[in-house]
Amino acid sequence: MSVVVLRATEKDIEEIVNLHYDGIRTGFIRSLGKEFLFELYKAILNRKSGLLLVAKDQKSSNPIGFVAATTNSSRFYRDFLLSHSALKSGFIIIRRFFLFRTSTPNQVSSSKKNKQHKILSKLFKIYESLKYPINKKLDGLTKAELLSIVVDKGFQGSAVSTNLMGELKSAFNRKQIKSFRVVVSSTNERANAYYRKMGGALVCEIEVHKGHVSFVYRIYTHS
Ligand SMILES: CC(C)(COP(=O)(O)OP(=O)(O)OC[C@H]1O[C@@H](n2cnc3c(N)ncnc32)[C@H](O)[C@@H]1OP(=O)(O)O)[C@@H](O)C(=O)NCCC(=O)NCCS
Repeated sequence: MSVVVLRATEKDIEEIVNLHYDGIRTGFIRSLGKEFLFELYKAILNRKSGLLLVAKDQKSSNPIGFVAATTNSSRFYRDFLLSHSALKSGFIIIRRFFLFRTSTPNQVSSSKKNKQHKILSKLFKIYESLKYPINKKLDGLTKAELLSIVVDKGFQGSAVSTNLMGELKSAFNRKQIKSFRVVVSSTNERANAYYRKMGGALVCEIEVHKGHVSFVYRIYTHS
């Protein structure tokens, strides 16, 4: 089978969302739902600071993997926060939150309280996810970042992930970006092994979400 890595288009987003949803099952972003993921990947595709590459089986043209990245993660998240897409995706969560708030205390059943608690904790996690790019430990490190990468299970262990990384490095290189970072859960052993194999050097550990250690790697684009 021959694989081609291309710049993604609007038509690829639905498949990219499915790949993310099926591939990163423990990630917090996934718990915000496919609608949120759709808005996020659309923003990565359309923002000047975003990079979205898709690997396709040349014969069928089916997406079998993707990599999403940004030339500046804090700028990307700031722009995303101020954009229409974020308003749209945040609306559902916030609307649900305020619907629960309008009930009087004795009308709030324990299951509603539970839901309210879950939504509050989700809002807090969104806040944590958006603020990690300004973590002091990342000071002085490149702001370019690989945000997510997924290869369909049936194609893992093949050249697809190497091709995606190669094309991402070339795309950054063309933008005169010499290195980028990647933040990954310390428990995702396969992804950690992959980033190290792709030249990643461990720079520091951070807690994007309290109590969960993530490793930060720097990867040079000219290897
Ligand atoms: C991360 C990912 C893109 C890597 O692509 P891949 O095709 O699986 O990569 P590889 O098969 O080359 O694996 C990388 C290394 O991990 C090793 N590895 C495989 N399974 C492993 C496991 N369970 N634990 C530790 N290492 C493992 C492989 O042996 C390989 O090293 P080697 O080639 O020297 O033997 C892919 O696994 C994936 O899509 N995972 C799900 C999504 C995800 O977690 N993305 C990263 C977070 S955004």
